[in-house]
Amino acid sequence: MGCDRAQGTRLLLLLWVAANGWHISCSAAKDDPKAQELMDAINTGYQPALTSWNDAILNDTLSNLKLARILWSSKEPRFQFTVFTQLTINRLPTLFNMCTTFTGPLSAAVFVALVQQPDVPSHRQRLNTGGPAGGGDEQAAAATSRVVVDQLSAPNAAALQEAVQLVQSFHDRVDSRPDMCQLDLMLFYELYDSDQSKLLYPVNYLRNYARMQVRTRLLAMIDVDMYVSRTLSEEMAREGRIAHYESLCAERRATVLPAFEPTRPGDKGRGMALKITQVTKSELASMHGRNKEAIQFKLRVFPRGHTPTDYVRWFTESQPYPVSYKRFYEPWFITCDEVMPWYDVDFRGYGMNKIVLIASLNYYNYTFWIHPNAWLVHNPHGDTEVRKLVAREASDVNKFKAKLPPNALYRKLTLLFGKAKRGMMRGTYDPRVDPRMMAVYGKVSWLRPPPQLKGIPTPESVFI
Ligand SMILES: *[C@@H]1O[C@H](CO)[C@@H](O)[C@H](O)[C@H]1NC(C)=O
Ligand SMILES: *[C@@H]1O[C@H](CO)[C@@H](O)[C@H](O)[C@H]1NC(C)=O
Repeated sequence: MGCDRAQGTRLLLLLWVAANGWHISCSAAKDDPKAQELMDAINTGYQPALTSWNDAILNDTLSNLKLARILWSSKEPRFQFTVFTQLTINRLPTLFNMCTTFTGPLSAAVFVALVQQPDVPSHRQRLNTGGPAGGGDEQAAAATSRVVVDQLSAPNAAALQEAVQLVQSFHDRVDSRPDMCQLDLMLFYELYDSDQSKLLYPVNYLRNYARMQVRTRLLAMIDVDMYVSRTLSEEMAREGRIAHYESLCAERRATVLPAFEPTRPGDKGRGMALKITQVTKSELASMHGRNKEAIQFKLRVFPRGHTPTDYVRWFTESQPYPVSYKRFYEPWFITCDEVMPWYDVDFRGYGMNKIVLIASLNYYNYTFWIHPNAWLVHNPHGDTEVRKLVAREASDVNKFKAKLPPNALYRKLTLLFGKAKRGMMRGTYDPRVDPRMMAVYGKVSWLRPPPQLKGIPTPESVFI
């Protein structure tokens, strides 16, 4: 289906694909029966309906994701450790880069947002949009109405088909390269009722689904705009290293990968970032500094995110060392599936989505140990629209004491963070997950069971 149409597409991305010497091939990768089973289970209970901004922000209506395509690597895994990540489809070039610097198994959830007008006459139906797993919360009974649609509009059907073709050719390309990652890819879409609601990028749903797709016990969520140092793939390919990291999981030791960024923006920065992944640690030490090539990630705009990693000490250490959790710490880390917490799906669009996960690691009695010889490097890019929106609202509040309307995203973020924090202080915290996603575990027998984690109350002083 649809090869002709894809050939004539106007998507800019295809120009990029063409520039890289790709063909839009129609050769479907051999579909893996297990992948197909997973896809069917994920789509069970899906009903096409439009996601609206106010429903999501004011009524905590869940996102409504449909899995359009699943493509698994036919290559042998280079080692038993998987990186998982999520991205919008226009960032496939970034995923390509990630797949060149990390050469092991990689699980990616790719996303397309589709805006659609309601059918005429539109009908609202009561859909059980679920409450938090575990229930017992004020949201538990939240069954809200949403606008149900009969099918994709013609332009959306075409856009989706282009997206499917694009990920197919992308996957074929990565899978044909023995030097690149072993890529398992899911393509999701969601229908929105407006350009505004389209800003509610379901970042944590995508992370959770990408993690569900991971086929190894050892894993790490790494955002797609981070390049991975060469040393990590080299280490994981060495005898005994996987078993070593797996043995740390019983005591809930998270192995943190320090993150750097190039000191220059744009194309120059992107070139520098790639180089910083390829050097040795002692070369990195000589490149490190405000007037040099590499600095701590977000040092200028959000030092709290990574300062607990202790970069000064890092350059002197050849062994892992422990650091204390501090409020707003947001490193990337390695752990095992059975102790990896869920990302709270109420965090959509932009903001706090990783910070809360790391706070939950602390709540679940994890300790943080810094990897002495592997690191990440941010690949500079422009801000997304939703990030700009949140930044604007935050500055209105913090600089001008503005009172935001109830449906403002920044206001919602502060409420969600406050709620998570109180839950952690009381010992009742449970990240919100999608019941439809959790039901997949009951349908697919070979999935590892979901984690059962119990936290211990976080002292209030941690959050001050
Ligand atoms: C939220 O839910 C209530 C109760 O179901 C409903 O009356 C209200 O219209 C909903 N608000 C939005 C913005 O959808
Ligand atoms: C938390 O972890 C430490 C080891 O890191 C352990 O000694 C302690 O018993 C754990 N606490 C709970 C409540 O599990």
